[in-house]
Order: sequence, then C-alpha cells, then structure tokens
Amino acid sequence: VLDGYASFYEMELQQSPSAFYDTVAALMTTDHQAVVDQLSIDPYELQRIRKVVIIGCGTSYHAGLVGRYLIEHLARIPVEVDVASEYRYRDPILDADTLVVGISQSGESLETITALRECVASGARTIAITNVIGSQLSRVADGVLYTRAGPEISVASTKTHLAQVGALGMLAIYLGELKGVLYPDEASRRRQELIAMAELLRATLDRQSQWRAGIGDYLSREHFFFIGRNLLYPVAMEGALKMKELSYIAAEAYPAGELKHGPIAMLDEQAVVVALLGDDRLHEKMLGNIEEVRARGATILAVATDGDAGPDELADIVLRVPKSEALWSPLLMVLPLQVMAGWMAQARGYDLDKPRNLAKTVTVE
Ligand code: M6R
Repeated sequence: VLDGYASFYEMELQQSPSAFYDTVAALMTTDHQAVVDQLSIDPYELQRIRKVVIIGCGTSYHAGLVGRYLIEHLARIPVEVDVASEYRYRDPILDADTLVVGISQSGESLETITALRECVASGARTIAITNVIGSQLSRVADGVLYTRAGPEISVASTKTHLAQVGALGMLAIYLGELKGVLYPDEASRRRQELIAMAELLRATLDRQSQWRAGIGDYLSREHFFFIGRNLLYPVAMEGALKMKELSYIAAEAYPAGELKHGPIAMLDEQAVVVALLGDDRLHEKMLGNIEEVRARGATILAVATDGDAGPDELADIVLRVPKSEALWSPLLMVLPLQVMAGWMAQARGYDLDKPRNLAKTVTVE
C-alpha cells in the first residue's frame, strides 16, 4: 500500500510533483490557454472584480497567503487573506465586485464552509479550491478549481499544498489575462513556466540525501524560528506549522524584517533559525537579517538557490534548491521544510501520519 515508504507522509510528499502537475495541467490546454469550465462565473463578471479575498485554515491558509502575492503581481487586484474562523466574524465588507476564494483540501472544514456560505449570501462571487469532488465547499461556491492531488491520508498536508499553490497560480494568470495586465502571449508563457515547475519539484526532492548530510546535528534541537520575506514569508509559516504539528516543538515564523521588533530578544545559542533566502530583490536585505541573527549566537540553517554564495559565510548549513523564477520559488522552498519536519518527528519516534491531538478534517468550530 505504501509503495515502500514507511509512512503516508513520506509517500505523499514524494507525490507532490505529480499532484502539482495534474492540477495545473487540467487547468490549461496543450497550447497553454486557460481551461476554466468549472469556474461557472462569467468572464465578464470576473473582469469586474476589484478585490479578491482568500480564506482557509492551516496549510490551506498558507497556500492562500502565497496566492495573494501571485494574484497581486500577475493580475494587479488587491487581495486580502484571512483564516476562515476569523474572517466570518469580521463582519466582512463584500459585494458583487469581490471574488472570494475558499481553499480546503478536504472541502469539509466547517469554518471554511460556513465563512464561504456567508460570502455567497453577501452577494460576492465565490470559488472553491478543493481536492475532493462533490465536497461541501465545492457545492457552496459558485465555481470550483479542483486540485488533483489524489487522496491525502497523512494528517499533515504536503502534496495538496503544492497543488493548491498551483491552482492559485493558474487563477492569478487567468485573472491577469482577463484584466488585461497580461497579454495573451505573456499569460501563456506564465502557464508554461508554471507547469515546468513540476520537473523542478522532482529535481528538488531528489536532493534529500544531500540535505540530510549535516542536518543530523540539529534534529534534536527544541527551538526553531523560520524567517522569510515577501512570498517566502508564508513558506516560513508553513515550515513552522509542519514542525509544530509533527514534532511538537516550538517553531515560530516571522517576516525577517520583523524580528528586530521583538522576537530577536528570544534568540540565543539554543535557537535554530531557518532562513529562506530567495533569489530576488530582497536578497541583500535578507542577508542583513541573517547577520543580525548570527550576532545573537543562533544556529543558522539557510535554504537558498543553487549558485547563491550569499549564505556561505553566514549560515551553519545551507540546503540548496534549484533556481527558478522568483515568483514560483515558494513551490520549491517549502519542500526541504516538509522533509525536515518529517525527519525531526522520526528522530523523536513520533507517528508521522497521525500527530497527537489532531484530526485530518476539522468539522467543529
Ligand atoms: O481540509 P482543509 O484544507 O480545510 O484543512 C485545513 C487544515 O485543517 C489543515 O491544512 C491542517 O492545518 C493540516 N493538518 C496541516 O498540515
């Protein structure tokens, strides 16, 4: 059943490239045009959208946070993202020019369903991004973008997160095209870029033995910080969540620039700071943040792209991922974090598939 893997977590993580590929491929034609027949929202209505709201819980929420950057960058529409259980009680301001995207792997998280239902009642246009055909969320929303990750058994999500980001990328490109921000040839180039990421996901996962060398020393540590900037900040949040839920240790995520506004006081020789270093305009700033952390004696575990010498002198260990278009880098950077969280749980003898106190689907509020 487990295809030679010791847990569903490891097996499903390994299935991420195909989960991502199948999701993205189903949303485009072979000549890279959008396939949106399940959106059920008139393109003219979507053209009118002036605000996008994304809601979800846990890992799905983190995918939404990545989606914010994608939609704002590619479609130039302002995006709000909130956890579903909070959004509903904010007395949200919605109208027919707002598009609400509810993200849920299971399509059965009660908070996401109830929040989206209220958005429908307020007259907003709604889309569900879910992995389960016919799930409640898919029925509440006007339209659906399905992720095609196959069943995910492990409580901790892995492949569905990649598929969600893939679906959000496709939505961002489509909205960009409708809004006239992307010319049709640019939109089709972006789609090609996105689907080509599946290969890079595979190449990234092939590096696990490289990452493992040297990381053993840190697996027993108890206090982790994850830092990133811009679209790598949500990746830091997801890395911290994976570590918390699988290893039950303190792991916190911060936007790197925010550390000096308080949390840096907690840093000492006991702390490990996982720094996500993108190949982007914030690279230098991020290096500055890593230096601040280093000065406090913390261990630095950098995740960086191939050929980036920036962290060589500063970090205790550097996990490498392939170079990619910076916009799609969250897809690659999250993989070593998911893998590392699994190793940490294994080193502690914990069940990777059924972490304590958690249910795969949360149907209470
Ligand atoms: O099925 P959903 O995507 O709605 O579930 C949302 C969260 O409960 C879920 O992502 C949770 O955070 C996972 N255990 C994370 O690994």
